[in-house]
Amino acid sequence: MRVYGLIGCPVEHSVSPIMQNAAFTGLGIDATYCSFHVIEDNLGDAVNGIKALGIAGFNVTIPHKESIIPFLDSLQETAVGIGAVNTVENVDGRLVGYNTDGRAATISLKNATGLDGRKVLVLGAGGASRALCHALLDEGVDSIYLANRTPKRAESLCGELRKAGGSCTPLGLSKRELAESVKDVSVVVNCTSVGLYPRVDETPFPGELFRSDLVVMDIVYNPLETRFLRDARDAGAQTIPGIEMLVWQGALAFEIWTNKKAPVGLMREQALRALGGGGGK
Ligand SMILES: NC(=O)c1ccc[n+]([C@@H]2O[C@H](COP(=O)([O-])OP(=O)(O)OC[C@H]3O[C@@H](n4cnc5c(N)ncnc54)[C@H](OP(=O)(O)O)[C@@H]3O)[C@@H](O)[C@H]2O)c1
Repeated sequence: MRVYGLIGCPVEHSVSPIMQNAAFTGLGIDATYCSFHVIEDNLGDAVNGIKALGIAGFNVTIPHKESIIPFLDSLQETAVGIGAVNTVENVDGRLVGYNTDGRAATISLKNATGLDGRKVLVLGAGGASRALCHALLDEGVDSIYLANRTPKRAESLCGELRKAGGSCTPLGLSKRELAESVKDVSVVVNCTSVGLYPRVDETPFPGELFRSDLVVMDIVYNPLETRFLRDARDAGAQTIPGIEMLVWQGALAFEIWTNKKAPVGLMREQALRALGGGGGK
């Protein structure tokens, strides 16, 4: 039996074991996936242990997505661009790092709308935003407005995206700045953690600024429908919940490890059930 896993801190509430084990069982693959709570001081020892035990692959979550890089043998190009790793493959004892977060987000968006030539407003300039923005450039978006509470962080990420050939305008999260920028875009994505359980009444974006011609995605997946998404839906916008990105980042990792097409419908059903949304989709 091949063993896969997740390392992070905390990992106790992750739905990845449920999704990945369902996928292995569904495809009749003799493998299992476990969570490992690894504190920062133990990261190096944990990676050595993974190699010594011959664990076939693993996901990486907060707070290790960047700090794991020096412990890996090589990085795939996307992970180099993003500067963070969420998936590792053990290839004959050599650990290769990937980042599936950005592509997971753009697949989720592309299931609802084309991205080529689009203008996109991204809220947040943290790790998930960085992954999404790099993937948006890969999809040929025209330009990105990047709105963040801490302006310096938006400026820094915009500088990085311009170096990578993109067009990016940094801004703050004031209503005036959001109102100006949203006029010019067709897609809005929340990559801040605002609205995450238990602060479910909070939103980073004034609801009255949504329009029915927008495609709106929230990458926060707990709750399944955030206030941000509910406001967008009330305005008639097309909405994409954060569980889509969650499922696709896992599906892409599964495909790296197994070279098989991931059973995305089954993984989504299991993730929805685990997060309390029923298994009907
Ligand atoms: N669906 C998925 O698969 C998926 C994948 C990855 C992450 N996520 C979710 O995405 C969220 C962000 O993750 P991350 O890894 O990018 O985190 P991160 O690196 O810590 O970044 C957090 C971002 O949220 C902003 N923020 C936090 N509190 C805020 C507040 N009260 N008001 C305004 N802005 C605030 C931060 O702004 P400052 O720069 O000003 O601090 C920053 O831009 C988390 O909720 C995470 O669970 C979902």
